[in-house]
Amino acid sequence: MMPVHRHTLLVLLLSVFTLMPAHAEEPSSELYQALGERSGIETIVKELLGRIADDERIASQFKGIDVRRFHRNLSDQLCQLSGGPCSYSGNDMRSVHAGMGVSDTQFNALAEQLVRAMEEEGMPTWAQNRLLERLVPLHEDIVDVPAEAAPTR
Ligand code: HEM
Repeated sequence: MMPVHRHTLLVLLLSVFTLMPAHAEEPSSELYQALGERSGIETIVKELLGRIADDERIASQFKGIDVRRFHRNLSDQLCQLSGGPCSYSGNDMRSVHAGMGVSDTQFNALAEQLVRAMEEEGMPTWAQNRLLERLVPLHEDIVDVPAEAAPTR
């Protein structure tokens, strides 16, 4: 009787340890995959840039920005937020947007254009929603942040 039990236990433990890492990784990379990985995200951001330029609610705020830097940093950020193998190395959201006087309407306008860009690229609705969900916590660091919130250099 005993050897059978020991064997069963061993098989059970081995299955648990073999399955564990796969399960731990899956939920975070699923969204990244659905967005088309790094290249899909870069396409969305490019599309978003065009839409920002055409949206009179927000276009003026972006006049004169370093477009390449914005594209790279937002792509890194969305890649990281969606569980992809990237790390965001831009400035923190609070100091980037401090003193811009970003309104709720403008925040929503940008989110709306992001959704349209994802729609355009055929991203599934669940993936669009999940990415937005992960952007919601950034709201308080982007909207109406007083200029004093920027670090003094
Ligand atoms: C979900 C909402 C938003 C996210 C995730 C976001 C994210 C970012 C990121 C990652 C950068 C680049 C930071 C860097 O290069 O260090 C950036 C820059 C910028 N953002 Fe936002 N942003 C959002 C909303 C907005 C809104 C609503 C406005 C204005 C209407 C805005 C205006 C800007 C401007 C003007 C820059 C360029 C700053 C510069 O390079 O001097 N952002 N944002």
